Amino acid sequence: MHIAVLNGPNLNLLGEREPELYGRATLAEIEAATREWARALGVQCSWTQTNHEGELVDVIQGLRGKADGAVINAAAFTHTSLAVRDALLAVRLPFVEVHLSNIFAREPERRRSLLADLAVGVVTGFGAESYRLGLEGLVGYLASRHGR
Ligand code: DQA
Repeated sequence: MHIAVLNGPNLNLLGEREPELYGRATLAEIEAATREWARALGVQCSWTQTNHEGELVDVIQGLRGKADGAVINAAAFTHTSLAVRDALLAVRLPFVEVHLSNIFAREPERRRSLLADLAVGVVTGFGAESYRLGLEGLVGYLASRHGR
């Protein structure tokens, strides 16, 4: 099973960026931990971070036929990007939306996700653990679907 983990804009600055909201872990540390969690679950994982909306769209399009599912923290694009939404609709890839912070406890414009209704589920507010919970949830979902 291959899971793609996708990260949107400004997540490359984790560790130094608003640590009171996003914690002290760097994206490289979250990547290393996520790769460990994937190994423990027996799945392959790829990792992408981009600050560019079009690049995120390209990466999502490129997952067609290559990934079984995705864990996505689209960061600010979560709240703004019809293009990312359309790409996810086009590839029909099961995905879990994750956020470090609890987007529903933040400013009104962050409480709306343009992706959430397409997702298998959403994990928001557990810091780096959101990635682990999202990965576990997605792998469980895909395993039960394949077993049917
Ligand atoms: C975020 C929440 C978004 O609102 C914000 O734009 C981010 C990070 C999170 O992981 O908590 O960049 O996706």
